[in-house]
Amino acid sequence: MSKLPNVGTTIFSVMSALAAEHKAINLSQGFPDFDCSDELKAMVNDAMQQGYNQYAPMPGLPALRNAIAEKVMALYGQQVDPETEITITPGGTYAIYTAIAAYIHPGDEVIIFEPAYDSYIPNVLVNGGKPVRISLSFPDYRINWQEVRSKITPRTKMIMINTPHNPTGAILQEEDILELEKLVAEFDLLVLSDEVYEHLVYDGAQHLSILKYPNIFRNSFVTFSFGKVFHNTGWKMGYCIAPKHLMQEYRKVHQYLCFSVNTPMQHGLARFLATPSHYLELSSFYQEKRDYFLELMRDSRFTPLASKGSYFQLMKYDRISDEGDKAFATRITKEFGVASIPVSAFYENGKDDHVVRFCFAKKKETLEQAAARLSRI
Ligand SMILES: Cc1ncc(COP(=O)(O)O)c(C=O)c1O
Repeated sequence: MSKLPNVGTTIFSVMSALAAEHKAINLSQGFPDFDCSDELKAMVNDAMQQGYNQYAPMPGLPALRNAIAEKVMALYGQQVDPETEITITPGGTYAIYTAIAAYIHPGDEVIIFEPAYDSYIPNVLVNGGKPVRISLSFPDYRINWQEVRSKITPRTKMIMINTPHNPTGAILQEEDILELEKLVAEFDLLVLSDEVYEHLVYDGAQHLSILKYPNIFRNSFVTFSFGKVFHNTGWKMGYCIAPKHLMQEYRKVHQYLCFSVNTPMQHGLARFLATPSHYLELSSFYQEKRDYFLELMRDSRFTPLASKGSYFQLMKYDRISDEGDKAFATRITKEFGVASIPVSAFYENGKDDHVVRFCFAKKKETLEQAAARLSRI
């Protein structure tokens, strides 16, 4: 019997296949259509040439963990111990899964906000946990903390947050963090904070990493992705930061899931992180893309919702059609040659607010061609 009877092919694969079939511009799946840094590639290449091609230590290369600890101190003022509190993983998705596998027992409840990144709910289910879904408010995608409190039971073990948020581009505010802090203290909840888009925050806002809040961090797993921020999603490199007592259990699972992660890439990333501008410049780099896409779309009949972070821009299409979002996204892929993701796919019950998600992590030419086509609709 299937452990995940309701899981089929993900919407990302479906829309990318449809885009390929119709030779559409693919603004659906979240990955850049430009290459990562030549300097970073050269650093990885050097490591291979120098013979760093065997297993890395189980928690990750010390040089990379040290570089991450330095970055965390510089950005978030939190001292994390690279020896015991950082584990390098093959991507952010794996980092999330491992925390759930290590801590969620059958029957444990996990609070998940929808729309949600598609791996969260299956990760909980496959470990016998019970996802407790709470919808973010529409159209600003904020958390209703009263509702969260009302859904907490003696079985509630974990709450998952994601900031900046996929698919909506929302970011958590200081008042959200204060509410979270109260609940964590009152109910002794674990927190899984998915921060894969940490550097992609716009309009002068600050990324409120859970690493900045010791009272929450002491109960938290905070997960990151190099692929998402350094334009190499195909490398599948990421990491998890958690306090020592949680990381001990986390590593028990990690050492039997994949044991250790790609060695030459860890060497390359360690050297690349030593130059802070490599991550500090990311928010202006992506804000420029978001602003350019919005500018190009200004005369279209789509209505943008606020995107404060991530590399996604949601658009309402109620001035164009009253179709459901899946039908609409499919039709514009086929008829106008631009693929997007229908946001209802991020809800278990298919809640449809008639919104589609576009990824703006694309070359200028790609955004120009896509916007030209979308403006004809
Ligand atoms: C919110 C969120 N978390 C995690 C990931 C996964 O990152 P990775 O490719 O490093 O596994 C993604 C990728 O789309 C994401 O959007």
